[in-house]
Amino acid sequence: MERVSVFGTGYLGATHAAGMAELGHEVIGVDTDEAKVARLQAGDLPFFEPGLPELLARHVESGRLRFTTDPAEAASEADVHFIGVGTPQKHGKHAADLTQVHAVVDALAPLLDRPAVILGKSTVPVGTAAQLTMRFQELAPAGAAVELGWNPEFLREGLAVQDTLRPDRIVLGVDPGRPGSVEEVTRRIYAPILDAGTPVIVTDLATAELAKVAANAFLATKISFINAMAEVCDAVGADVRDLADAIGHDARIGRAFLNAGLGFGGGCLPKDLRAFRARASELGVGESLAFLREVESINTRRRGRVVDLARQAVGGRLEGARIAVLGVAFKPDSDDIRDSPALDVAGRLHLEGADVLVYDPRAMANAARSWPTLAFADSVEDAVAGARLVIVATEWQEFREADPGALAKLVVERQVIDARNCLDVDAWCAAGWRYQGLGRHAS
Ligand code: UDX
Repeated sequence: MERVSVFGTGYLGATHAAGMAELGHEVIGVDTDEAKVARLQAGDLPFFEPGLPELLARHVESGRLRFTTDPAEAASEADVHFIGVGTPQKHGKHAADLTQVHAVVDALAPLLDRPAVILGKSTVPVGTAAQLTMRFQELAPAGAAVELGWNPEFLREGLAVQDTLRPDRIVLGVDPGRPGSVEEVTRRIYAPILDAGTPVIVTDLATAELAKVAANAFLATKISFINAMAEVCDAVGADVRDLADAIGHDARIGRAFLNAGLGFGGGCLPKDLRAFRARASELGVGESLAFLREVESINTRRRGRVVDLARQAVGGRLEGARIAVLGVAFKPDSDDIRDSPALDVAGRLHLEGADVLVYDPRAMANAARSWPTLAFADSVEDAVAGARLVIVATEWQEFREADPGALAKLVVERQVIDARNCLDVDAWCAAGWRYQGLGRHAS
């Protein structure tokens, strides 16, 4: 059992804190947001993530996991400190905003008067960890006895618990000049995961930082690649899902992340891509990542494409057209609407004067906060009642399993745009719907 703290109790931090408690450690979660700390301490998760409420409640109850706003408690009680705060996009810029990371260093370092290991998990521009090492050692009374490693987090929303407890790999960056005890401590903390055979890549700090942004850039590129193929499929009447299967069986390519549709969004991929490009330009290698600009343009075009299809479907003018948008979360099993392609489409249709009614199983409260003028329905049925067009914008299971025959009776026109290519085309067509996917045969 190790005594660890986790700074930041957002998506990454809260999940990691609960995960570390599940591995048997004694954990203190630290956040500046008093309301959030109070909720977590009461065992109440402020966002939706399958399996996490149970984990949180179990370990808060056992006393193995607690939360505080006071970094001094973390400094005095823990020997290992994870940094899991957010690194959002800077306002008006592409670069990452490291304010929260620096705030953790400034709050924690002066309190470290005995040897400690800091493990960075936040996604940061390459080069940050080396700077933070110097800053910690400068500010901490324990000086060089404070060691830093970089241990990026690859968790996916909706699968965060599984990804924390059973990750594909553990990446650890250490300063090769002064390896110290970081690797040994990290191996102790993750012992149950490593015992299960999980691969570990121990490398230098810069490579570990790059591992995260490179992984996200690759995933985004895969999605935009198949979306570009969807554009070509549309031009020739080919089917992008069959195409993805056809190329995905090649083990060198792989089928994962080849689902064409509305494209990627969320709190990570879009902003990490931009920050990576900004950092590459600073480093004088902007050219090397120039292709990511195209990856982003392909991604943004998807949203415009769905709005265009919607306009055509209702006769060329969106004004006054009743449209049901099913899904506003950036992906299923999440209530996250950050950079959500689905919410963007709903908003664009609304701005063009369409009479949009939105339904999402989990994300409506968040969507209503960021788009207060959008109208929301209580159920799929409410959303589609009286609609001239239904758009499936997030592939929730509830939508994939909806009965097209029953919904057909509620709408004014049987038209569906399957913006996630997730519906059973034959079943919808058999129920009399005019089906349109993205990069699929229209029928
Ligand atoms: C991502 C990375 O996967 C994860 O490793 C990292 O730690 C954080 O960022 P997440 O944002 O939870 O995780 O979502 P992910 O499952 O990667 O999906 C990202 C977006 O791509 C979603 O909007 C999703 O709908 C879209 N997507 C994904 C596609 O459009 N097609 C696909 O084939 C896969």
